[in-house]
Formats: sequence, C-alpha cells, structure tokens
Amino acid sequence: MSFRVGPVDLIPEGESLLVEAKDSGASEDIAIFHAEDGNFYALQDECTHEVASLSDGWIEDCTVECPLHSSSFDLKTGKVLCMPATVDARTYKVNVVDGFLELEV
Ligand code: FES
Repeated sequence: MSFRVGPVDLIPEGESLLVEAKDSGASEDIAIFHAEDGNFYALQDECTHEVASLSDGWIEDCTVECPLHSSSFDLKTGKVLCMPATVDARTYKVNVVDGFLELEV
C-alpha cells in the first residue's frame, strides 16, 4: 500500500518529516529524510536504542544521527553505524510520483 505524503518540496534537502502511523496506516511512525544526495529515504522513526525520534536527528550525507545518544544510521540500508545502538533500523521505500512523495507502507 502506498501513502501519499505530499509534494516533494515539503521536505527541503537536509531535513526530515515525521509520518505518524495513524495517518499512513503503517504499523509504526516513519521518518522520511531528504538526504544530501538529493534522494528521499525512510526509516522507522523510533531509534533502535531507546525512545528517541530519528526525525529529530541530524542528517549528514546519507546518515542520520540520533538526537539522544548520537548513534548514526545509514539512510539507504538502516544499518547502525556506531554505538550505543546495536540494532539496525527498518527501512521503507519512498517513491516520487508526479512530483509527490509516496511512502510504501
Ligand atoms: S536513543 Fe538513539 S542512540 Fe540512544
């Protein structure tokens, strides 16, 4: 199932957007990132370490750094890149269709 998030300019490069599960129909909240490579990526919003929102994190290149304890995750693969988190994040696919972002949930 795909959820239409909004126009591509909704998320400027280097920023992110939280899509709540109650809106998208997904089983969890999802963070969409507009990475510095110009592409859009999506991960589970909740950090795999403790309770923190990755959509509040810092984007650098194609990674996001958790705002709470600074673990970072690869936006393309969800792979955790540094401690204290040790579990990878789930990834979701984001498509650009006719100028709109669509999230596969
Ligand atoms: S909650 Fe994200 S690194 Fe601790």
